[in-house]
Amino acid sequence: MSLKQTPCLVSVVLLVALGLVACGEPPQRGTPGAPPQLAATTAVAADPVNIAHRGASAYAPEHTLAAYALAIEMGADYVEQDLQLTSDGVLVCLHDTTLNRTTNVEEVFPDRATEVEIRGEMRQVWRVSEFTLEEIKMLDAGSWFSEEFAGARVPTFQEAIDLVRGKAGMYPETKAPEEYEALGFTMEEELVRVFVANGLDTHEGQAATPIYVQSFSPESLKRLHSIAGDTYRLIQLIGGSQKALLNEQGLADVASYATGVGPAIQLLVDDPSLGYAARSHGLELHPYTVSATRLPEGYADVGAYIRYLFDDLRATGVFTDNPDLFPRH
Ligand code: G3P
Ligand code: CA
Repeated sequence: MSLKQTPCLVSVVLLVALGLVACGEPPQRGTPGAPPQLAATTAVAADPVNIAHRGASAYAPEHTLAAYALAIEMGADYVEQDLQLTSDGVLVCLHDTTLNRTTNVEEVFPDRATEVEIRGEMRQVWRVSEFTLEEIKMLDAGSWFSEEFAGARVPTFQEAIDLVRGKAGMYPETKAPEEYEALGFTMEEELVRVFVANGLDTHEGQAATPIYVQSFSPESLKRLHSIAGDTYRLIQLIGGSQKALLNEQGLADVASYATGVGPAIQLLVDDPSLGYAARSHGLELHPYTVSATRLPEGYADVGAYIRYLFDDLRATGVFTDNPDLFPRH
């Protein structure tokens, strides 16, 4: 499958290519708060993107419609959805594979826990995959954050689309796809099915609602690429233990199925040449995650830190809990 009508994607490819041509030698390691001045020829390619991490999650409970609506109001270009699957196969927006951290599942379904060993300790968890959508909709996903949001529900991916489409882009992540595959679900197929049902596989659909799909799992993104070709821009997330994906061979492989990488910021801070290497492969660079509550020392504010990521580390977008603090000029 490929995107019906392609001029939009052709433009994106051209912009990326221009960014690639503009890349020069990597700078020396960045100085917090005082990114080096880059020559005009090393300017970042057009329009760095502001990605609201789990919605405007600094101000509203993550992955609720309230957090998504606030992100849009705050000017986010994209609203992120982490995806899980219910026992009846419905995509829902939730970061964890379990319900306990962000809902009151323990009160509502006290007898439905599973005992698991976590770092040598036996713990009770309530797995998303062991509850139907109807059951999950009974849970309060807002009170843990603040009483102001009491009664907020776990949204389905469809509800997220209904809220966000036409107002911002969507940026879903396939979470734990291998766990769901073991249960007989192919998360990537379900994701594509929902996109197609909403007309988001077309040029017109994505012109109003641009899409990236992200995953830490190369297998998941390769499967999406094999199902849908270049219909969706794919971002390979790179956690601290996946640094090999940023070496020359790793980047060449990633570039064969993805349009960009989303590394943990610290990987780029520790070695700024990695951002240059990714860009030199024509890849977009969307590191995660900037939060006002975890601002590194030496930066005046979130805006200054995000500028450092763009100007010094070559990022082309960033995940942030504070989409309102994204520097626009
Ligand atoms: O998807 C980018 C970033 O969100 C990855 O970390 O754990 O918040 O999904 P996590
Ligand atoms: Ca995520």
